[in-house]
Amino acid sequence: NHTIKIAIDGPAGSGKSTIAQKIADLLGIFYLNSGALYRIIGYYLDNQQINPEDSKTIMNKIDDIEIVIKNNKYYLNGEDVSDKIKNAKSGMLASIYSKNAAVREKVNHLIKEISKKNSVVVDGRDIGTEVLPNSDIKIFLTASLEERARRRWKELKERGENVSYQDILKEIEERDKADSTRNISPLRPAEDAIIIDTTNKTIEDVIQEIVNILKEKG
Ligand code: C5P
Repeated sequence: NHTIKIAIDGPAGSGKSTIAQKIADLLGIFYLNSGALYRIIGYYLDNQQINPEDSKTIMNKIDDIEIVIKNNKYYLNGEDVSDKIKNAKSGMLASIYSKNAAVREKVNHLIKEISKKNSVVVDGRDIGTEVLPNSDIKIFLTASLEERARRRWKELKERGENVSYQDILKEIEERDKADSTRNISPLRPAEDAIIIDTTNKTIEDVIQEIVNILKEKG
């Protein structure tokens, strides 16, 4: 009754989500995007105009948030918010509210519950270090700041968002800094993570590399 757990961590624009999704599809297992969970909670708390520093109110409100994942769609209290939370603003909000301990606890609990029952590929910032330290495989993806900004910019533009490369570069730089320097669960590779720099690699290259690692591990 052993379930497989694959942790894929890394900064914004490292290719995590695309790669994690494809690996999950190849293996026929569940893909869980932990960033999406933080985005949903950020979106909700911001809508409720809750101050990110007001941990007491956050703690009181956190149980009002019901997140359900079905067929790769993310539902917030019954509403499919999968597309709404993909914009740059939601990324910033996720980063701001993710510093809160109650928020992190909620997300971690959800991830642990799902991965108890299912084989999963989970992507995020602290999956290999904090959430699923017993993962069978831990991958840490990186890429240069410029390359990550370029990817994110292209992705947002393709989705019809009118954003400048410079703004995205700045946003990612700020998010990197906040994510790596925060007190709880900062972004960093686990000691036993395999680090892959994707700057000059295609998505397909990286997937192949991870598939090879999986094969070696048996
Ligand atoms: O991966 P994504 O860009 O969607 O994540 C949005 C934000 O959520 C990150 O910048 C980070 O602050 C937060 N996050 C986190 N821990 C995770 C996943 C995301 O703190 N495991």
